[in-house]
Amino acid sequence: MTADTTVAVLALKNAAPTLVSSAGFRRVIGSICRLAALAVEHTLRKQELETARVVSQTEGLRSALLSAISHDFGTPLSSIIGSASSLLSYGKTYSPEVTDELLTTILEEAERLSRFVKNVMQMTRLESGALVPRMHWADVEDLISTSLDAAHRRLRNHEIYADVGDVLPLVHVDFVLMESVMVNVLDNAAKYAPVESNIQITARKLGQDVIIDVADQGRGIAPEDLGAVFDKFYRTKRRDRTVPGTGLGLAICKGIVEAHGGTIEALSEGMDRGTTIRIRLPIKTPDVAAVAEV
Ligand SMILES: Nc1ncnc2c1ncn2[C@@H]1O[C@H](COP(=O)(O)OP(=O)(O)O)[C@@H](O)[C@H]1O
Ligand SMILES: [Mg+2]
Repeated sequence: MTADTTVAVLALKNAAPTLVSSAGFRRVIGSICRLAALAVEHTLRKQELETARVVSQTEGLRSALLSAISHDFGTPLSSIIGSASSLLSYGKTYSPEVTDELLTTILEEAERLSRFVKNVMQMTRLESGALVPRMHWADVEDLISTSLDAAHRRLRNHEIYADVGDVLPLVHVDFVLMESVMVNVLDNAAKYAPVESNIQITARKLGQDVIIDVADQGRGIAPEDLGAVFDKFYRTKRRDRTVPGTGLGLAICKGIVEAHGGTIEALSEGMDRGTTIRIRLPIKTPDVAAVAEV
């Protein structure tokens, strides 16, 4: 029994009567039952809480999504429509440079929308439990270079340095999901750090973890926001509204990294002193089957 209720009944089968009547034995059985009851109650409570949390998050997600969609779809859509219609009407009279510029705008804004949609979809799948990581053994250097390739257009105005410790163990990850984590983090570095500044990616082994740092020289994050930036739709107050975004990126990163048994945190010395996003992935030892798969 717990304080509130009886959670289960334990029956002893074929126990010797002398043993059952012994005070010491009854005490031991008593404590085992109490511990087991607590554990059962704890599990039940956790399931209840989880259900409540999912329900309230879904409600919150829905209304936040609506406002994000109306806010964040509006701007890129009007630039796409504006650029496309002026190309259509006056395209023949434009110089190649102007045409290029308009086409670039269309492409970049469309890419932004597509990232947004991808993020929203991932968030929904993550929350409904439909996003199940498919783990394979992967090389960290490969992960970093693939992510840099995927983000290269957005990184073209920054100096990128990558430094991967020579002997890193393989990590057990869903490559596609981890790539989207890296792309989100790199995208932030590019968005929130000035043009021409450095973005430094380092990977190293520390104890039983592989640590990937993405450090920028941007505006930094205030101490009180360091945790909150991983919340859904959270964007730090100050100058954020000038940079397009939805506040979903880091929430998704956190969901994905945690699904890998890892952690993600933001480090910053304060405003205008740069930001480092630190991803920690646990090192697992490949078993024989996994090695064969590699
Ligand atoms: N590298 C960074 N430097 C400064 N601020 C950052 C950085 N990365 C994230 N942030 C802050 O955290 C917020 C949440 O990030 P994110 O979830 O990716 O959303 P978004 O990029 O769509 O705004 C951002 O709006 C920004 O305020
Ligand atoms: Mg972002």
